[in-house]
Formats: sequence, C-alpha cells, structure tokens
Amino acid sequence: MVTLRRYQSDDRPAVIELWSDTWSDPASHNVPSEDIDRKLADSPDLLLVADDEGVVVGTVLAGFDGHRGWINRLAVDAAHRGQGIGRALVREAEARLSARGCHKVNLQIREGEACVVAFYESLGYRVEPRIMMGKLLG
Ligand SMILES: CC(C)(COP(=O)(O)OP(=O)(O)OC[C@H]1O[C@@H](n2cnc3c(N)ncnc32)[C@H](O)[C@@H]1OP(=O)(O)O)[C@@H](O)C(=O)NCCC(=O)NCCS
Repeated sequence: MVTLRRYQSDDRPAVIELWSDTWSDPASHNVPSEDIDRKLADSPDLLLVADDEGVVVGTVLAGFDGHRGWINRLAVDAAHRGQGIGRALVREAEARLSARGCHKVNLQIREGEACVVAFYESLGYRVEPRIMMGKLLG
C-alpha cells in the first residue's frame, strides 16, 4: 500500500535517484541534494514522499512565500505512474499549503513537457496568461 509522509533522512538516496532519473538537468541551481538541504532548513513538512512498503516511489516539494504556494519536484517513479500517486501527492501538498493560509498555488511546466498540462488540468489547474521570468542569483 502506498502512503504519503514527510521526507525522512534515510530517504535521501532514493529521492536523489528519483529526481536524477526524472530530470537529467545539469543546471547548477538544480542539484537534488542541495534542494533537500534547503527545504529541510526552511519547511521540512512540505517535502513529501510516497512510500510503497518502504520504497520511495514519488515526491513533491511544496512552498509558500506568504503570497503564493508553489509545487515543485513532483515526480512518480515510471513503474508506478497511472495509479493515482501523483494526484495524491498534489492533493496532500495543497492541503498543507492551505493549512498555512495559502489561497493560490502556482507551478511551472517546462517547454517540451506539455503532456503534463493534462495531468494538472485533471486536478483543477488552468493554464494562465502569464509571462514567467527568472534570474540566477550568484
Ligand atoms: C506527472 C506525474 C507526476 C503524474 O503522476 P501519476 O502518478 O502517473 O499520475 P496519476 O496516476 O495520479 O494521474 C492522475 C490523473 O492524471 C492523468 N494523467 C497522468 N499523467 C498524465 C499525462 N502525462 N497526460 C495526461 N493525463 C495524465 C491520469 O490519467 C489521471 O486521470 P484520472 O483521474 O482521470 O484517472 C508523472 O507522470 C511524472 O512523474 N512525470 C515526470 C515528472 C513530471 O513531469 N513532473 C511534473 C513537473 S511540473
């Protein structure tokens, strides 16, 4: 049975492997171990894993900046997709953000991952007319 729970320290190798398998992104600001460390220092209750009998099969990393909630690092192991795990992770992240007073959740989907749009639409998300901008700090 798959359960959702907070990340624990011994999940680290499995989470790093899942993220590395899911996003083979060499960008210097996307180092999995650094994401984990920063999240644990900031809001550890918003880093969640899907646990299938002791095996990490999914993750989500949520955040709330006081204005908007964010969903990042949503990943389900390829062999476990299509079983409702991604949906459950998003719902749990939403519940935790809502409990913090968050009224609106945003997320980014990379160009080339447009098929994920249908997944989020099935969860009530809508494509919004915004221009996304970013800047690397240091
Ligand atoms: C996107 C992802 C997290 C979905 O996880 P999942 O566990 O397979 O999704 P679920 O089984 O909970 O699916 C929920 C619903 O979305 C639908 N869905 C899932 N993936 C979909 C896709 N790629 N395209 C269209 N619909 C999809 C399912 O059919 C299901 O619909 P239903 O409720 O009508 O049955 C998973 O495919 C993944 O890890 N992808 C790679 C990483 C990624 O793209 N993350 C998102 C970054 S923004």
